Order: sequence, then C-alpha cells, then structure tokens
Amino acid sequence: MNDHSQGPTPPSAGKSAGFAKGAAAGRPPHAVRLAEQSDLRDVIRVVNEAFGHPHDPKLVEVCERMFSPGATWVATDGEDIVGSAAGAQLRLALPGGRETTAWGLTWVGVTPTHRRQGILRSLMARHLSQGREQGFPIGLLFAAESGIYGRFGYGAATYYAAYELSRRDGDLRNDLNLPSTGCRVDLLSLDQARARLPEAWERLRLERAGELSRPDWVWADWFFELEQEASRANAALFIAVCSSQHERIEGFTAYYLEENWERGYPEHTLQVREVVGSPAARSRLWSYLLQLDLVGTLAVQTAPLDEPLRWMLRDPRRLRTKRTADGLYVRLFDVPKALAQRGYRGTGRVVLEVEDPLLPELGGVFELLVEDGAAGCHRTHSDPDLRLSAEALGAVYLGGVSFSALAQAGRIRELRPQALARADSLFLWSPAPWCATVF
Ligand SMILES: CC(C)(COP(=O)(O)OP(=O)(O)OC[C@H]1O[C@@H](n2cnc3c(N)ncnc32)[C@H](O)[C@@H]1OP(=O)(O)O)[C@@H](O)C(=O)NCCC(=O)NCCS
Repeated sequence: MNDHSQGPTPPSAGKSAGFAKGAAAGRPPHAVRLAEQSDLRDVIRVVNEAFGHPHDPKLVEVCERMFSPGATWVATDGEDIVGSAAGAQLRLALPGGRETTAWGLTWVGVTPTHRRQGILRSLMARHLSQGREQGFPIGLLFAAESGIYGRFGYGAATYYAAYELSRRDGDLRNDLNLPSTGCRVDLLSLDQARARLPEAWERLRLERAGELSRPDWVWADWFFELEQEASRANAALFIAVCSSQHERIEGFTAYYLEENWERGYPEHTLQVREVVGSPAARSRLWSYLLQLDLVGTLAVQTAPLDEPLRWMLRDPRRLRTKRTADGLYVRLFDVPKALAQRGYRGTGRVVLEVEDPLLPELGGVFELLVEDGAAGCHRTHSDPDLRLSAEALGAVYLGGVSFSALAQAGRIRELRPQALARADSLFLWSPAPWCATVF
C-alpha cells in the first residue's frame, strides 16, 4: 500500500460499457477522486457506517498505517465523502511454490443513504484501471457478501473451514508417523511476536497456495483484531511458535481461552485463530493445543478444507465442521501472464475461451501449454476446448475449485470431449489453497 502513496496518474477509467450502468439508468450523479491525506477520518467514517461498526479511536492508529491516499478512491456528494475503495499491493503464493504481485481491494463501503446509485461501480472502474495500468497481473479481495463481486470478474478461489472439537475427543492416534522436527514450542510475548513473526511469515507463506504477504499494516490489523477479541472475552492473547534447533520459527498459532465455569469445573473454549507453518510444525502445534489444560472445546476459526488434524484423531468424526465459506477472490487482469506464473501438474495443453463482459479487451482465446509443471500462455486463433467467464477463471486459478464442478453447475462449457478432465488434471492443487490473511 505504501508503494502507491505518491499517487499514480489517475487512470482513464469507466470506458468499458459494463461500468456505465448507473449513469445510463439516470441515477443521481456523484464524483469520484483519489483520496487526500486529510480524508482519512472521513474514509474511516464511511467504512464504519457501511459495516455498522462503532468509532474506535484505537482503530484509527491501525488505519493510519493502512491508509495510502494515492491508492484509495473516494466517491463524493458535494463536499461529503460517501464511498470508498482502497487498493493495496500484495504478494500471492501460487501453486508450485511460486508467487505473483497482486492488486488487493479493501475498505469498500458506501454510506447507507447513497446505496444502489452506482457508486460501487464507479469506484471499481477506477480501482481496476489503476491495478491494470500499474501492471498487476491479478486482483484480489475478501468479500463481505459473496454475491457482489462476480459481476466485476472476481471468483472465489480459496475456501476455509471453522472447526470445533471437544477436547475429550481430541486424542491423537498413537500410530502417527509424523516427520520428526526437533521442534520446540515456545510462547512469545506480544512484543516478541511483533518483532519475530513477520520475518518467519516471509518464509512460511509460500507453503500454501492462496496465502498472502503480510505488509506492516496487515500485521498491525492482525494483532489489533486478535487483541480486541481476546479482551472482549476477558482473556489474554497467546502466540505459540514452533522453532527448530536453530531458533528458526517453523510455524505459529494465536489463541486465547474463553472461561466457562458454568458446571463448577473448567470447560473453557480454546479459541484458535490459525495454525500455520510447515506440515511438521503444524502437527506439533496441534498436539500442543490439544494438550492444554482447562479446555472443554477447541474452536478453530480458520483452517484449510483439507486440514490434516482430522486424520490425526482417534475419532475423526468428532471434529465438527462448523462452517465453510469462500475466502480469497481472484480476478485476472492479464490472462496469459497470470496463467504462466503458477505451477501445474504434469504436461498438457488446454485452450480457454474467456468471456469478460465488464472488460471485453481482457477476454479472448488463450492457449496454455504446460511441460513438467511450467507453463507458457498466449492468445491464439485455435478452436477453444472450454468456454468460461472471467469470474470462473478467477475461481479455478489457484487450483482449489475444479473446472468439472463449475461445468456441472452450468458455469463452464466443454467444447471438446475430455477437456474438463484435462484442465482439472493440470490445474487442481494439493494442499488445498487457503488464505488465513484477511485484509
Ligand atoms: C456493497 C456496497 C459497497 C455496494 O455499493 P453500492 O454503491 O450500493 O453498489 P452499486 O449501486 O454500485 O451496485 C453495483 C452492482 O452491485 C449490486 N450490489 C450492490 N450491493 C450488493 C450486495 N450486497 N449483494 C449483491 N449485489 C449487490 C447492485 O445491485 C449492482 O448490480 P448491477 O449494476 O449489476 O445491476 C454497499 O452496499 C455497502 O457499503 N455495503 C456494506 C459494506 C459492504 O458490504 N462492503 C463490501 C465489502 S467487501
């Protein structure tokens, strides 16, 4: 985000037909401009009004770190700011241990008195143009509601699960053949964690396709949210790290205990935010968490859909999936570049026809040629194997959603026999893409 604080040239947005809907419908006019440093408080007010959040002075400090006027678009009605959308530069881990830069979108809100007048459309036009003009191959966001961003070409590419397990049922099998890590679990003070986790994260985040870099402002927000949550539960926040003999952090988790003495004995809920790191470190951290005293229930707020914990348990059915939901949304701005950046399985060829009603110039027919996991991609005049929307391409991009499932849902058309199977065998990825970094 800070990289854009100087303020890029305002992009020439809104030329594509798909953006003009509000004006065409004769809705009241509003103006859109880049934010200025002095707009921060109004931007926070609009986002709070949009989400129904109270004003929190402590959050202002976090927002000051996040705010990048040159990347934030505001909608105005006269002098008043009534909508906002902020861009942020991030790095996304891709299948095959690779990564790409990406243009994130956050702080999207329109004040309730000005909704459904095309303000989000205007803000999106500017945000998308800015990301494209700055050469980002893809755009990313987390959506408050899953029905909003498909029309802008974003598809849900990662999913997460929230799990619950009674500690009584949390015995691990005694025949687990886990890699011996020599890892030790230590608790860090919050100051130590602030100092050490960012460096560790830079090494660990590539373990999982779908994970993001955590710039300074993401860490500030991560600690802020967790400390707030723990303090609402009248609890302390703990950060446990799994370190190798060389003091290198291989994995970490954040948790707090919600007290429950209702029955006269402790049945606390252990709220676990996320368990991240190498597979060996994650296993070690799970066994640490399952042995903590006073715990009645272990509640895991976010974990991958293929979380190995289930298969570590003596009684796997007891790990209840409380919820699964969409996580990170992906939008390709440069189809050939984005497709060539990720890794694939094996060798093969597939020709995709991408329909992009919002930004038709980004669509077309693309040939993807994969050899031993590495791909090249270019526009072609060949006949396509599969026809799909920009939104569907975003959904399958990280290998967590199959072409076949989207075809069965009527969202992808197979134009040549076996093309779905071919595309799935190249694209699908394990471990399942997951993103614990909400921004
Ligand atoms: C979501 C929000 C930003 C939309 O702003 P808006 O200015 O009312 O949206 P627009 O008028 O530009 O609508 C653009 C399109 O999105 C659709 N849309 C808007 N909000 C939607 C929602 N919550 N669910 C599904 N579709 C939605 C509109 O119907 C319109 O569709 P169309 O033009 O394709 O026919 C606004 O309602 C808001 O601030 N909501 C609360 C906070 C929030 O959810 N923020 C998003 C965070 S990711």
